[in-house]
Amino acid sequence: MGALDVATIKRDFPILAREIKGKRLVYLDSASSSQKPQAVLDAMDECYRNYYANIHRGVYTIAEQATAAYEEARRKVARFVNARETAEVVFVRNATEAVNLVAYTWARANLRSGDAIVLSHMEHHANVVPWQMLAAERGVELRWIPLTAGYRLDTSGLDRLLDGAKLLAISAMSNVLGTINDVAALTSAAHAGGAHVLVDACQYVPHVATDVRAWDADFVAFSAHKMLGPSGIGALWARRDLLEEMPCFLGGGEMIRDVRLDGFTPNDVPWKFEAGTMPIVEAIGFGAAIDYLTAIGMDAVRDHERELTRYTLDALADRFGADLHVYGPHDVDGRGGAVSFLFEGIHAHDISQVLDEDAVCVRAGHHCAKPLMRQLGVPATSRASFYVYNDAADVDALVEALAKAQKFFEI
Ligand SMILES: Cc1ncc(COP(=O)(O)O)c(C=O)c1O
Repeated sequence: MGALDVATIKRDFPILAREIKGKRLVYLDSASSSQKPQAVLDAMDECYRNYYANIHRGVYTIAEQATAAYEEARRKVARFVNARETAEVVFVRNATEAVNLVAYTWARANLRSGDAIVLSHMEHHANVVPWQMLAAERGVELRWIPLTAGYRLDTSGLDRLLDGAKLLAISAMSNVLGTINDVAALTSAAHAGGAHVLVDACQYVPHVATDVRAWDADFVAFSAHKMLGPSGIGALWARRDLLEEMPCFLGGGEMIRDVRLDGFTPNDVPWKFEAGTMPIVEAIGFGAAIDYLTAIGMDAVRDHERELTRYTLDALADRFGADLHVYGPHDVDGRGGAVSFLFEGIHAHDISQVLDEDAVCVRAGHHCAKPLMRQLGVPATSRASFYVYNDAADVDALVEALAKAQKFFEI
């Protein structure tokens, strides 16, 4: 495994030096939220200590410095996903808010009773519930792309599903199965039928070099906290012409140009969607996380995760054979590093608790994808997920802890 120098990278993450119950912390829950490198902590600390002030308003030096740093973070995000222009990036709290922003503004302005939205069975609740709320309010029809037995989108009926649809809202990478979807092909099919496309890229942007122009999507949502940045900040990328014509979302603060007794004039894009005091320091931390990932190189990040996922799938199969079932594709070129699994006869929560005795952190539950769990016919899975600071030793620790759990529950 040589794509990344993980030993050096690990030292950049203070939390990874911690011991829990006398054991080295093995953090395998990055699909839920990633850990933060010293560079991100420093960038945020530096702002609070040296130039913190509210942005866009003050004319004094530190307010101008804070504003410049916040807008520089936006430029970094825009470059990271190859946006055409910086104004296409709207800062939001997280990917969930980005999807809701589109649902409340663009979708409520453009969809009415009888219109259809196409989703898939592998969507996170963040890309399901906002559309269900809209469907209930407007009488919009929701259509679903099913999955194949190999945990991929079954696109055999896609043309029929897209026929007359106004929106395709689809994840680029499943947080449960790890499946990577062919967004460019899906976008092209959707656009050919006249539908817009929203990509939930919350699991993709942190792990794979992302090019929103190559995708040709209309909206792309992602969160900083899954890509080494702080919680409380995320981004909606959208085509500028769409942002211009979309109605405002939340009202107040920086989103206005003028307010009179008889109404208001909204600010320019993207500030039109950034109401109230924004998470200023979090945006600066987001920018620092992007610098860190860029210095490693996103191709190396992807190569490393491909290698580690291959190693994990092989190690689990070798050690546990048919006792352990992995829910997700086995071909590592078409999947990311979220590995969901179940031991025959043991509940995922029980596994997680036993693993915690060895300081191995894995997720157990429905992973905010209950429709998918229902399709899989299980209430929950265990999920190990990787990032730049994980290596084969972490996977070995997982396998050893799982073997102990298996013995404990005496399969
Ligand atoms: C695929 C996917 N979409 C959306 C989200 C929601 O992200 P957030 O909680 O940051 O809004 C997640 C988080 O787990 C996710 O994995």
